Amino acid sequence: AGTFNNILVERTGSNNQVGVITLHRPKALNALCDDLMTEMNTVLDDFEANSDVRTIVITGHGKSFAAGADIKEMADRDFIGVYSGNFLSHWDRVTRCTKPVIAAVNGFAFGGGCELAMMCDIIYASSSAKFGQPEIKLGTIPGAGGTQRLTRAIGKSKAMELVLTGDHISASEAERIGLVSKVFEGDQLLPETIKLAERIGAFSQPVLQMAKEAVNKSQELSLAEGLHLEKRLFHSSFATADRREGMKAFAERRAAEFKDE
Ligand code: CAA
Repeated sequence: AGTFNNILVERTGSNNQVGVITLHRPKALNALCDDLMTEMNTVLDDFEANSDVRTIVITGHGKSFAAGADIKEMADRDFIGVYSGNFLSHWDRVTRCTKPVIAAVNGFAFGGGCELAMMCDIIYASSSAKFGQPEIKLGTIPGAGGTQRLTRAIGKSKAMELVLTGDHISASEAERIGLVSKVFEGDQLLPETIKLAERIGAFSQPVLQMAKEAVNKSQELSLAEGLHLEKRLFHSSFATADRREGMKAFAERRAAEFKDE
């Protein structure tokens, strides 16, 4: 995968099936500068294309997941520049991954860091993690999904409160309101996230892809359209040998052996 300046990349889990990206800019609490996002996109392209990688984990080095977009890099930009260059448009690569992507939020997830976590499919957090959209304090607003994904995740009143005050919430609060699915003690976060990634990775890749697509579309479609899509994807799973194997294995009281077919 080459070497990078702002991220660490490794493969772990049985058969090295889990691809891990660690945001690594210790001097800036892993703030998401342009280079970092470009590097992450390169690795995501790589992981997507490599059939040995079954699930992807994104985490942060040290006491931060990511403290947001890089404020120093943004400070001198002007309207014409950000508008005509469509600033932050390359931030959505994660949302186009077909493989499951899990965020292991180990500390600050502020601004773009919170938005990046919300682009992932599942968020696990350490007990010291903190989430917030502090852009209002900088005289701007969230620009990578914070007003939209946060509202869908935790409801309008709570999202509005966070976005209008810039306050942050603890991991346990984030779990209580459904932003995060599980919280672990700090040293357990990554091992538990990798365990989850391995468990998910054991299922049929094309069927996982259908399941992920269906859940993600629930955020965009009307109920009727979503139910229609779900039904068609459910039907599609019957075109796979893995669906046949899964049901046969159940009847024979043995573990299914999925082949991604
Ligand atoms: N961009 C650039 N540098 C950052 C940064 C950021 N988002 N966050 C922290 N840093 C840098 C600090 O400037 C500091 O560097 P120096 O030592 O060179 O001054 C270093 O990281 C350590 O930070 P602190 O000394 O502030 O650490 P702390 O533990 O006292 O505070 C913090 C931690 C509360 C997270 C604080 O750093 C902070 O508030 N950071 C900014 C958070 C923020 O506003 N994020 C939103 C950015 S805008 C955005 O993301 C737009 C969008 O929607 C995409």
